[in-house]
Amino acid sequence: MAEQDVQSPPDPKPPSLPSLRWDEPPEGPVLVLLDQTRLPAEEVELVCTDVPALVQAIQTLAVRGAPLLGVAGAYGVALAAIRGYDVDEAVALLEGARPTAVNLGYGVRRAAAAYRAAVGGGADAGRAAAAALAEARELHREDAGASAQMAARGLELLDELLPGGGHRILTHCNSGTLVSAGEGTAFAVALAAHRAGSLRRLWVDETRPLLQGARLTAYEAARNGMAYTLLTDNAAGSLFAAGEVDAVLIGADRIAADGSVANKVGSYPLAVLAKYHHVPFIVVAPTTTVDLATPDGASIEVEQRPGKEVTEFGGGVPVAPLGTQAYNPAFDVTPPDLVTAIVTESGAVSPVTRDALTALCARSRQVTIS
Ligand code: MRU
Repeated sequence: MAEQDVQSPPDPKPPSLPSLRWDEPPEGPVLVLLDQTRLPAEEVELVCTDVPALVQAIQTLAVRGAPLLGVAGAYGVALAAIRGYDVDEAVALLEGARPTAVNLGYGVRRAAAAYRAAVGGGADAGRAAAAALAEARELHREDAGASAQMAARGLELLDELLPGGGHRILTHCNSGTLVSAGEGTAFAVALAAHRAGSLRRLWVDETRPLLQGARLTAYEAARNGMAYTLLTDNAAGSLFAAGEVDAVLIGADRIAADGSVANKVGSYPLAVLAKYHHVPFIVVAPTTTVDLATPDGASIEVEQRPGKEVTEFGGGVPVAPLGTQAYNPAFDVTPPDLVTAIVTESGAVSPVTRDALTALCARSRQVTIS
């Protein structure tokens, strides 16, 4: 391979700090986040003592990725309840922090439902807050379990689609430990393939404009000793044309009932490339990311981010003339006919159809919120 290849480090070490943890120091409970805006330069924790701080962490992407946003949102409700803030107000603030990742609202509503059920059952404020915290902890545990199941099922599917091993997998954005209580979604499948000896190379899209691929996926791949190579997003086409990609693995922020997949902007062009080059395009996400209440891709709200993320680089260096307007959607939507399979903790669907997804969700153990 060319000299730009990054070799596996001799001594791989997984991230030393969890992406998120609940702590109860004497001054009162806090939600502690691994600040993803500071990676890979330094591992720094960000301590949230209240909901506005957590909302800011969500909006600046200090904490990000669909499943982890759900867990963070649930703990946010518990934090508000325990610290005596207005829970309804906290719910509204947290749910509105980012619009596309359905898990955020799911986690918030789950913890809020536990809180309200306790209040409705006559619990005092302390017990109701404890119920919200217990629900957040449960979601945290479930997410770690889902991650392990997705990894196993995804690896099975990869081996079925690509017999013989030696997989060269392209991924976009970041979908590993940093987005989950476990090892993640799409990245967890690549990691499982690495551990099974069947991953030849992980191609990592840098993922403009905020570089989740370069900063975070490359960081996770390096720490796990995976053979990976970083590329600019617009180099993907020539990589496909050179026959260097065997499969695309991505996560999702919301999957509509018809199987349309919202994920980090740049995913849709990869799906088009994959179709043209006859390469499987596999989406890995927990069933909590499937939103049967959103009928189709056109109904998914795509978050628009500040233009400065495009017109400036590295948080302040201008790369365009002053006053330049920028188009900066955080996500794009891939239609189901471009998706080879959706892998969840409860099984995979392929081909991706409304009926198959509905049936999968019906047999999953996903908690429904009344
Ligand atoms: O804007 P981000 O960094 O939160 O976007 C995250 C993604 O698009 C991930 O690919 C997605 O959440 C799936 S990974 C679980």
